Formats: sequence, structure tokens, C-alpha cells
Amino acid sequence: MSRKKLRIGLIGFGCVGQGLYEALSKTPALEASIARICVRDRNKVRPLEAGLFTFDRAEILDDPSINVVVELTDDADAAYEIVTEALRRGKSVVSANKKMIATHFEELIALQRETGSQLLYEAACCASMPIIRNLEEYYDNDLLECVEGILNGSTNYILSKTYTEGMSYREALAQAQKNGYAESDPSLDTEGFDARNKLVILIAHAFGKVAAPEEICRLGIDRIGRLELDYAKEKGKKIKLVAQAYRCPDGKIAAFVLPKFVSPNDKLFLVDDVYNGVVTCTRFADTQFFVGKGAGSLPTASAVLSDLSALRYDYRYEYKKLGENAALQSKDDIFLRVLLRIPDRSPGGLTASFIEIHERYSNRDCSFITGVISLSDLEWTLSSEQVCSCVLFEVAEDPFPKWKAAEHVESQNEIAV
Ligand SMILES: NC(=O)c1ccc[n+]([C@@H]2O[C@H](COP(=O)([O-])OP(=O)(O)OC[C@H]3O[C@@H](n4cnc5c(N)ncnc54)[C@H](OP(=O)(O)O)[C@@H]3O)[C@@H](O)[C@H]2O)c1
Repeated sequence: MSRKKLRIGLIGFGCVGQGLYEALSKTPALEASIARICVRDRNKVRPLEAGLFTFDRAEILDDPSINVVVELTDDADAAYEIVTEALRRGKSVVSANKKMIATHFEELIALQRETGSQLLYEAACCASMPIIRNLEEYYDNDLLECVEGILNGSTNYILSKTYTEGMSYREALAQAQKNGYAESDPSLDTEGFDARNKLVILIAHAFGKVAAPEEICRLGIDRIGRLELDYAKEKGKKIKLVAQAYRCPDGKIAAFVLPKFVSPNDKLFLVDDVYNGVVTCTRFADTQFFVGKGAGSLPTASAVLSDLSALRYDYRYEYKKLGENAALQSKDDIFLRVLLRIPDRSPGGLTASFIEIHERYSNRDCSFITGVISLSDLEWTLSSEQVCSCVLFEVAEDPFPKWKAAEHVESQNEIAV
């Protein structure tokens, strides 16, 4: 099979862009060369000859000799303009910008179909770990039952440092930023937005549902306090930021991102530092576990490199599962066993939101409840300023399953007969 030669226009030369330059220079067999690099700041000192750089993206987009645009900026709005324009001009595109992809997902899929140009984005989910192409190509929709994982390297690094090394949250965040793990706006990581954007991408390739990010309940690690960390330690568990999506008995897809207590027998327990881990459950293969570095210059560049290699034989995502019209499960029908902490001595009205209460505790500064709550009530409660934090134990059984209601109606009918 003849392979296409790639002449690349690189837009963004920060942590990942520089990693890609280094990785490409050590991979001559790929036959890919960087023709031009577009950056934003005219005053920054660059490690390469000045003639390679431009500050005008049109010099890349207008150049017919450039057949691939690699978009590695940290600006989702600029990324959207660059990627859509490049696709319209018939160029292949590789991007790592999960925020841009999750926000404009439907449009980007439609644009690829309309123009025939392809957009690949393996680096946008779990950096070095090849999860998107696996979900897209390997797992049939019917067989896949759940995908759950630690999708954000920066928050996993912070949680590992605060939990095991007793580092302060601020110190751990500063270290994550210094190592190039954190987003330019770190609240995207710490408040769970980044993990949610990645979950949106995974759900499309796993289950064929393109969800809007706002449809998915999210909580990050920024509210986790000493009480939750001590509770986890006392029970021999760790807290991880876990994104999960699973198929409910009615075929709909339940999805959310929440801090979770993880036990030593859970595959995610040993996924520490900047590593990401994803567990898939399928009907016949049981569970499978992927692990790899979820951030950093060269690990992320390696996924971009793999996309470039795939472009050489014209690989494209076919989004085969989208035709199956999967729907998201209603948040009223998702039930979770959680620990909820509030900065108040009396949990008051909060108890009414719980379907079951298992533990209740108050001290001078706060109270916490453990028990079962619906995702819709949890989301509503979390949106109230007063609530401090929530950590998930596990998905709970539906206390009001539809089959029970149906059985009840049937038995009523029998009585009537
Ligand atoms: N870092 C990671 O570990 C990691 C992991 C997975 C995915 N990603 C994703 O990869 C992308 C790049 O991340 P990064 O960490 O490499 O970011 P970064 O270190 O902040 O670098 C961003 C680069 O983009 C350039 N840039 C920003 N806006 C631009 C514009 N409008 N036009 C041209 N250039 C522009 C910047 O130019 P200047 O140099 O002039 O400032 C800089 O070179 C992001 O989407 C991020 O979410 C990163």
C-alpha cells in the first residue's frame, strides 16, 4: 500500500507542540516534515530558527503544499476556527483540544462527512493511551456495557501527592503546572470540566451518543477536604476523579464525572500520579484495563504521532455507532451511594434529598451524610453554594425500577380480572 507523505503545518508550539517536534525528529520512517509553525507571542524566545515560525495562521491554511494541520494551541476558540477552516480547505487535521471537540462535536462530524477531510484526536483523551481508536474499532456497540476511568492526569497527580505525600493542594497544583500536566486554565482540570469533555468524546466512540458537555453531571476535586481524605484513609480507600458511562437495563446511557472512593481491589486503585486508567466491561470479555500517561510533552506527542501515522494510510473515524440513536439516561433514574459534606452543623433539609441514609455525622465545623440519592437531586444539591463536597461510593440499584412498576400494574390487572 502506498503511503502518503505528510507536509505539516503545526499551530501551537508549547508543551505538546515541542514534544511533537522532538518525537518527529526521532521518527524519520514516518516521512512527515514540519513545514511551518504558527504561534501567538512575538516576544517569546524559540528554540528553532526564526524563519520556521509565523504569527499568521493563514500562511499555513493558504499553503496548498501543506496537506496536514496539527492544531496544538491552548485556545479552544482559535482551535475551532483553525480546525473548521482547515477541513473546509481539504486538509487532514490532528488536534488535541478536547474542549473544542466536545463543544462542537456534532458540527465537526458533519463537516468531515461534508468535506471528506478527516479529523483525528487520539491525544485529546488520556494523552498517550490509545483509547479512542480501540473504542471506535474494536468494541461492538452491543457488547460494550461500561467505560469508566481516570481521564485527567493533572488531577490524578494532585490527588496522589496530597494523599500519599501529604503535600498541600496548592503545592501539588503548582507542581502539576510546572511539569506541563495542567491546562493553561487549571480550573478546567480541577473542577472536572476536562474529564467531562473527554467523557463526551469517549461516549460517542463507545456508545454512539454525541452528548453536549452540559448534559453530563460533573464535580471536580477542588472541594475535597481533609474529612473526605481521612475518611478514605480510615477505610483503606483512595479518592480518584472518575468519569463513568454505562448502559442501563433499558438501553440508555448513564454518565457522570465525580470524585470516587476506590478500593484496593478496584483496577483504578493503583493508577497514581500522572497516569490515566480506563476500564471497559463487555458482555463476554468481562473487564479490560488500559493504563498510560495522561499528560506531559512526549506522552501526549506520541498520540499525535500515532494519528499522523494513521493519516498516511488515510484512516478516518467512521462513527459507525452513531446510527444507533442511543439516548442519555434521565438523571432521575440514576441512583448513587455517596458521601455528602456540608459546612454546617446540621444537615437540615439536605436529608430530605436522600432516598436512604446510612450514616450521619456532625462536628463543630461540618456535617456529612452517606446514603443513596438520585443524580438529579445530587446535581441540584451540588449547585447550592452551601454544599461543600461529594464523593461517590458506587452506583446504587434503582429503588424504583420500571419493571417493578410494570409488575405492580400487571398484578393490579390480575386482581381486577
Ligand atoms: N499538556 C498536556 O499534557 C496535554 C495533554 C493532552 C492534551 N493537551 C492539549 O494539547 C493542546 C496544547 O496544550 P499545551 O499544553 O501544549 O499548551 P501550551 O503549552 O500552553 O502551548 C500552547 C501553544 O499554543 C500557541 N497558541 C495559543 N493560541 C494561539 C493562536 N491563537 N494562534 C497560534 N498559536 C496559539 C501558544 O503560542 P505561544 O508559544 O506564542 O504562547 C503555544 O505555543 C491543548 O488543547 C491541551 O488541552 C495537552
